[in-house]
Amino acid sequence: RKAVGKLRTNSSSLDELLGGGVETQSITEFYGEFGSGKTQVAHQLAVNVQLPPEEGGLNGSVIMIDTENTFRPERIAQMVKGIKGGEDLDPEDFLKNIHVARAYNSNHQILLVESALELAEKMRDSDKPVRLMIVDSLTAHFRSEYVGRGTLADRQQKLNKHMHDLMRFGDLNNAAIVVTNQVQAKPDAFFGDPTRPVGGHIVGHTATFRLYLRKSKGEKRIARLVDSPNLPEGEAIFSVTTDGLRD
Ligand code: GTP
Ligand code: MG
Repeated sequence: RKAVGKLRTNSSSLDELLGGGVETQSITEFYGEFGSGKTQVAHQLAVNVQLPPEEGGLNGSVIMIDTENTFRPERIAQMVKGIKGGEDLDPEDFLKNIHVARAYNSNHQILLVESALELAEKMRDSDKPVRLMIVDSLTAHFRSEYVGRGTLADRQQKLNKHMHDLMRFGDLNNAAIVVTNQVQAKPDAFFGDPTRPVGGHIVGHTATFRLYLRKSKGEKRIARLVDSPNLPEGEAIFSVTTDGLRD
């Protein structure tokens, strides 16, 4: 087992809440309502993972499974330019290490993890091995395809397999796994609380770290660490700025 790596977010308070950053060999789930900043966090991590460890990165590349077509190369470019001294950096050098795969439905999403395993294996001895896998959004397809009470067991079984595939990816590649998740739009027969993440117990028990994001004033966002094996619960305030995530 390799030493766990930590991937910083550009917000020292969020990093502190996470015990130093997003961990490799773990699944970290960011959940929250629309606009709470989940996709912004994902973009920032896709940039940061490429940096050397002394700058908070893992010297790696990233595979991003994009289920809602929300990946924005221009946003990556802004974040690259936002790196300290980054005016001289070429965003293309970062974009080429972000392997984006669009998932068209939940089965395709599951299948993409298999392809990701193959790609990561090919890249393992390169100078930018895959050290981050992002699934944004983990649950959107599942939620829209499995509607109604009778389909719940099926959905949970598929999600369970998917989560375990992701965990395996993280272990094999010493990679951080970051997934996003919405909150229940309306009370659900099983998980009635509307601030609960989709996927209930299955996602909850497989994700190692769960963070609940919510909007505050303007650029400000609040992250609450909800579940963690070894860290105290708590909150962090961070900002989503033009340059990317900041305190
Ligand atoms: P859903 O996917 O809809 O559930 O939301 P999300 O949690 O992924 O939200 P997202 O990360 O897309 O956050 C959107 C918010 O981020 C916007 O309301 C802005 O506040 C901020 N944001 C997005 N793009 C930019 C940008 O280019 N510049 C700045 N300054 N802020 C941005
Ligand atoms: Mg989003």
